[in-house]
Amino acid sequence: MNPTRQTQGTDDRGAEAAAAVDRFGRPLRDLRISVTDRCNFRCRYCMPREVFGPDFTFLPRDQILSFEEIALVARASASLGVRKVRLTGGEPLLRAELPRLVAMLAGVSGLEVALTTNGSLLAQQARALAEAGLGRVTVSLDSLDDGIFREMNDASFPVRLVLEGIEAAARAGLSPVKVNAVVRRGVNDHTAVELARHFHGSGHVLRFIEYMDVGTTNGWRLDDVVPAREILAAVDRELPLEAIEPAYRGEVARRYRYRDGGGEVGFITSVTQPFCGDCTRARLSAEGVLYTCLFAAAGTDLREPLRSGSGEAELRELLGRVWSVREDRYSEQRSAETAGLPRVEMSYIGG
Ligand code: GTP
Ligand code: 5AD
Ligand code: SF4
Ligand code: SF4
Repeated sequence: MNPTRQTQGTDDRGAEAAAAVDRFGRPLRDLRISVTDRCNFRCRYCMPREVFGPDFTFLPRDQILSFEEIALVARASASLGVRKVRLTGGEPLLRAELPRLVAMLAGVSGLEVALTTNGSLLAQQARALAEAGLGRVTVSLDSLDDGIFREMNDASFPVRLVLEGIEAAARAGLSPVKVNAVVRRGVNDHTAVELARHFHGSGHVLRFIEYMDVGTTNGWRLDDVVPAREILAAVDRELPLEAIEPAYRGEVARRYRYRDGGGEVGFITSVTQPFCGDCTRARLSAEGVLYTCLFAAAGTDLREPLRSGSGEAELRELLGRVWSVREDRYSEQRSAETAGLPRVEMSYIGG
């Protein structure tokens, strides 16, 4: 398989001369920043209770990057070509004073700030986040069936409160709100069309995600994956669809629009149709380790340099060096051999 699509893209918004490019010619455009490894849900595909139980040790406070440290990494990244930062977790809204961080990041020239959340605390926080400069929000919601959803989040959290979070976000101007649904065979696949029907015409953009083998604790099996084309066919039968172009280079979702004008829906096909060739994303863990792939086993520690006085120029140099030797393309290489390799947990790296 050829991972290398040449990268002379059309989405360049300046600073091209400074842009970092990896071994396959992929520019660095997005930085996903995990602000906490904790979550109030225990989705079985991400933080199974048997592993993330009362005895699990989360990162202690003093090992987590401060907002000032995160902002410094963001500024260095922006000078290398990053255009969007996405705050993730665990659950990012558990981090105290998050709007203060949003304001710091929104103040970095040329940087869009987005957030991916489970939605449980969004109704309370949407307005403060929007006022701080958050641009958009993505909310995870795997099913509208309350029993199925409560079981999937394993915290008995009801659908209704997530829907209220989505509406609060839209009212606060964080739109279009995207809604992520991870599909698992035999668990929620039979409720996928109902989700599509619900969000059709709502102005929100639903995306179905193929269940991925992230981390090593969720017991992932290929049999549990529902290929996105199955969901696409089922939705298309009821609500006819047509493919549309990506919104930006490196977008992970394949976009479709409803032929009747009811908006759009996306499919994230990391398992059946990998998109590594266009992958422009780096990830920063809450404790300051930089990863160049969601499936990486190891990263580069930025906390030590940050805490021993490195400034923006040194960080920029370090980030640029790490990115320039990057060769990751895990989803294209996924096989029986890669199955046993160590890799970071989803809740640690933020998806
Ligand atoms: P926008 O395009 O800005 O809306 O965001 P996004 O779709 O990149 O972010 P989101 O946090 O909503 O992620 C959606 C899903 O795609 C999650 O399951 C992520 O884990 C997955 N994902 C995001 N980036 C990558 C990637 O680089 N590789 C893989 N394999 N999956 C990814
Ligand atoms: N496979 C696919 N998506 C996952 N997410 C969490 N774990 C997995 C997995 N194993 C999703 C969350 C959230 C996004 C960041 O990643 O539901 O929407
Ligand atoms: Fe929490 Fe999101 Fe993981 Fe669910 S998928 S346990 S909401 S971090
Ligand atoms: Fe990027 Fe790694 Fe995902 Fe491929 S598997 S798209 S290289 S993060």
